[in-house]
Amino acid sequence: MLARRIEAVPEGLGEPMAVRWEGFAARKVALTPTPMGLQPGKYIQAKWQDGQFGHTDAVGLQAAHNGTELCIRLEWESKTRADSVRDNDEFADAAALLFPLSETASLLMGAQGAPVSLWHWRAHRPKTARHNTAEGIGTSSRVRGGPDIVTRAVYHEGRWAVVFRRVMAAEGPGVVSFKAGQSYRTALAVWSGANAERAGLKAFSPQWVELTLEG
Ligand code: HEM
Repeated sequence: MLARRIEAVPEGLGEPMAVRWEGFAARKVALTPTPMGLQPGKYIQAKWQDGQFGHTDAVGLQAAHNGTELCIRLEWESKTRADSVRDNDEFADAAALLFPLSETASLLMGAQGAPVSLWHWRAHRPKTARHNTAEGIGTSSRVRGGPDIVTRAVYHEGRWAVVFRRVMAAEGPGVVSFKAGQSYRTALAVWSGANAERAGLKAFSPQWVELTLEG
């Protein structure tokens, strides 16, 4: 998957419906429900044993950069829009990108000593992604001090389109830094809020997607 290099990130590219996005190839990434055996806690395993979660089956992925800023656009079908959370049993639609922070990191939320960085967009907080790091299932924690991951989202005709936008060069624990001409691995997850999906209950891409930033 190629993140095309463009001259300048026109303001519009941060917007999911910018016409400019139509000019960049989209990769369809297949998703699958997370394995029941990896869900932590007997309650979740018992309540969801019929496996009725993680039915978002694909995400369209596009990306572009200008050497300074990277924009990643995700788009997926979501017939049930959930963008407000008014009570403890309500959950919002969400999507996340996972980036390994070491060669050996697993896309199953990383592992001890092999952390991952998680960019987590949530429909009820649509303007900034939450930035977490994890070293295995059940360990995610907030990253403090990295650059903002600015997000914009549009729900249109039964589909979400979300753009994640971040400065490329960055440093600090839990933070991934990007350079033009280099390749990175990423993995994706989508939660359907109307189906009470949250945390481990979601659809994810079981294989790494290679993202090459055009030099
Ligand atoms: C593409 C791969 C994945 C991505 C992008 C991803 C992303 C995330 C994010 C952003 C969170 C924080 C959610 C929140 O605060 O509500 C999270 C939590 C969680 N994820 Fe994943 N995840 C992935 C794969 C998996 C898999 C395969 C499982 C297996 C069941 C899993 C289990 C969990 C669990 C149990 C939590 C809640 C506990 C914790 O925060 O660690 N994840 N994930």
